[in-house]
Amino acid sequence: MIRIESLSKTFDSLVVLDDVSFCIDDGNLVVVLGPSGTGKSVLLKSMLGLLPVDNGEVLFDGKSIQKASDSETYNIRKQVGFVFQGTALFDSMNVGENIALPLREHTTLSSKAIRERVCSLLEVVGMEGKAKMYPQLLSGGMKRLVAVARALALDPKYLFYDEPTTGLDPIMTDKVVDLVQNLKKKYTNSGIVVTHDLSTAKAVGDQIYMLKKGKIAKLAKIEKELYD
Ligand SMILES: Nc1ncnc2c1ncn2[C@@H]1O[C@H](COP(=O)(O)OP(=O)(O)O)[C@@H](O)[C@H]1O
Ligand SMILES: [Mg+2]
Repeated sequence: MIRIESLSKTFDSLVVLDDVSFCIDDGNLVVVLGPSGTGKSVLLKSMLGLLPVDNGEVLFDGKSIQKASDSETYNIRKQVGFVFQGTALFDSMNVGENIALPLREHTTLSSKAIRERVCSLLEVVGMEGKAKMYPQLLSGGMKRLVAVARALALDPKYLFYDEPTTGLDPIMTDKVVDLVQNLKKKYTNSGIVVTHDLSTAKAVGDQIYMLKKGKIAKLAKIEKELYD
């Protein structure tokens, strides 16, 4: 389980996170909903210790990432699959090489085992047979699926999704939403989805929080609170 405790983050005079606390219980997907520029990506990066925070801490199964040593931080991050906003695939590498990257860096698997793992990951996301394609030739939605496959490579305990459906057409949005739901069922992954899309939030969230002006609040009745 992940506990976010009193997290605060400012950039100069801009308050982005103001005493933010919430919890991601095992087996739960938490959604943080908020308009563009509210601090959703800052929250995810802070949770992984990729951005230093002003105050507070994030505990992974009781272990604070802010207080962790380099090797402890490495071990915590290895448990997290991160689907970056805008996918962050390497254009110079084909799909298979992109997915293989974390396996090459963090495991001692043989080339053959890596190839097999890449094939099975592509199957999981519905992109079988696409290993040799280059990212430029893929639609935005297909790139998103490849980014999910890469995030799954190390069999993470937690999945972090940054705007998984932003910019996708309705059909691809449904496909990504289905994948997020299926992955949760199949692997009982816990994690967090940050998005500004209400229908994505409602479809995938076990709990939904709203981030606004640095403050986080749990939404009980989504439509009512959003449109008040
Ligand atoms: N490294 C940074 N330095 C200064 N300001 C930043 C930095 N990263 C993000 N911000 C600011 O923090 C706010 C929240 O950014 P972000 O988390 O990317 O928003 P969101 O992901 O919700 O669209 C924005 O106003 C952004 O300009
Ligand atoms: Mg963002």
